[in-house]
Amino acid sequence: MIEDDTFYIWGEECIVSKISSEKGIKLEEQFLFVFNRIEQTKHNLMMGALSMNKEDEKLLQYYLELKGPNAGEWNSSPQCLHTQLVTRDYVKKTFDIFDEIQVCNVGIGTGDWDDYLGYWLKGRGGLTSIDIDESICEIFEYRQQREQHPNPSKVLCRSIFDSDLPQEAFDIVTLIGSAINETGDFKKCLDSCFSLIKHGGYLMFMASLKYTPVEMLEEYISNTKYHIVQKTVYEVFLEYPFFISKIRK
Ligand SMILES: C[S@@+](CC[C@H](N)C(=O)[O-])C[C@H]1O[C@@H](n2cnc3c(N)ncnc32)[C@H](O)[C@@H]1O
Repeated sequence: MIEDDTFYIWGEECIVSKISSEKGIKLEEQFLFVFNRIEQTKHNLMMGALSMNKEDEKLLQYYLELKGPNAGEWNSSPQCLHTQLVTRDYVKKTFDIFDEIQVCNVGIGTGDWDDYLGYWLKGRGGLTSIDIDESICEIFEYRQQREQHPNPSKVLCRSIFDSDLPQEAFDIVTLIGSAINETGDFKKCLDSCFSLIKHGGYLMFMASLKYTPVEMLEEYISNTKYHIVQKTVYEVFLEYPFFISKIRK
């Protein structure tokens, strides 16, 4: 393969100079002109593809995986879309936004929820997103920058159990989906989430009823000074029943 496109430009210049010399060009030279153009275009496309940087390659991989054999079926299912719709609608209708509000989400995953929170807070407040997984943090931060998110998250690549997380810094903390199960310690995870919240602030907790019965949350809260302000169970899809609650610190 030719490393730069000087060769093609030179070929084109030769033919163009022949045409402009008004001597006319032969049929085979006309073919050569068209062939040269096609080769040049192919070359440019290849160079473009080859020059994709490592971050963009990872981003392409991320987009492909969302529709790939492992995640595509769930991501396009009514159960998944219903959960996303209900959760987004819940935060919008249940919590008030005020100027300089600080929100934190624990567990980024695909980052769709964090994207939504950023849009919701746009022009009023900031979002911090915490995740233990370095590659998840990196791709999320890069994707938001590449997609030009208007209110990108401040990403903290940390475990929720780390002791150097900002204490009593947030008005709202959200903990959504399987994040609590993935941490491996229900009580310790909630303790840490509450430690991030200012006095009078809220935790928005959403979890699958299959792995987290509501009673588990109620028992935890009964041993604290916190207060469950609202709790709604969603059982539209019996394969994925879940609940969302708003808890005041
Ligand atoms: C399946 S995702 C769910 C993300 C998102 N809340 C949602 O429902 O779309 C769970 C995330 O929690 C993160 N996670 C697991 N253990 C964690 C910990 N100890 N501290 C912070 N994040 C953790 C994982 O890396 C993963 O990105």
